[in-house]
Amino acid sequence: QLQGPSTQLLDGVHVTITAGPTREPIDPVRYISNHSSGKMGFALAHAAAQQGANVTLIAGPVDLATPPGVQRIDVESAQDMLDTALAQAADIFIGCAAVADYRVADVADHKMKKTANTGAPTLKLIENPDILKTIAAQTKPPMCVGFAAETRDVEAYALDKLKRKKLALIVANDVSNTAIGFNSDDNAVVVLSEDDRVVFEQQSKQMLAQQLIHHIATHYHKHFR
Ligand code: CTP
Ligand code: CA
Repeated sequence: QLQGPSTQLLDGVHVTITAGPTREPIDPVRYISNHSSGKMGFALAHAAAQQGANVTLIAGPVDLATPPGVQRIDVESAQDMLDTALAQAADIFIGCAAVADYRVADVADHKMKKTANTGAPTLKLIENPDILKTIAAQTKPPMCVGFAAETRDVEAYALDKLKRKKLALIVANDVSNTAIGFNSDDNAVVVLSEDDRVVFEQQSKQMLAQQLIHHIATHYHKHFR
């Protein structure tokens, strides 16, 4: 719906959002990644811009158009995404990206070849930095919002992440239901804070994003300004 400037919830607020998967190289032509479409993060960026926010969208490799009025920065690996996130000033930071938890320890400089002598290679993985946790641990952190995609004990795991990463809000997403979440157009979530729990029923990611931005903005004005 159309909204006049007087009803904009995030006027002058800088919102930084991570979205999509990350891509972790194995060699110059191969990588490890996941099926995140980036739709939820892009929808959030669009909705935040519609509310007057100054939006930076840090996007992993996705096939999506940049929402109007949004500054988009494309990245590949988790380390790129972290470096870019640390270079942004933000009042609200929303970690929506499906960051690869691990990367290959020793990326090959040249395309790996099949060799009869050594057989199938074993990839040694090392843990990636936690982007959201790093941002939330800064001396003057923005209000941090995380996503938790889980297949069981959804809210318990989400609450654990809220506390462990020192987040203001966590969006808990039950991805055991394949009609919602990851690659689909719809989603249904529960948003948790230290002291409240709000259910958002199944709907399009665009509609949901508008409601989530409303909820996030309300929390921001109540607790962070
Ligand atoms: N996240 C991040 N950097 C990482 C891993 C996760 O910023 N290296 C963010 C995600 O963008 C998301 C939140 O942390 O907002 C939770 O991600 P999730 O993968 O559910 O949590 P993990 O801490 O990685 O735990 P696990 O995968 O074991 O459930
Ligand atoms: Ca993870």
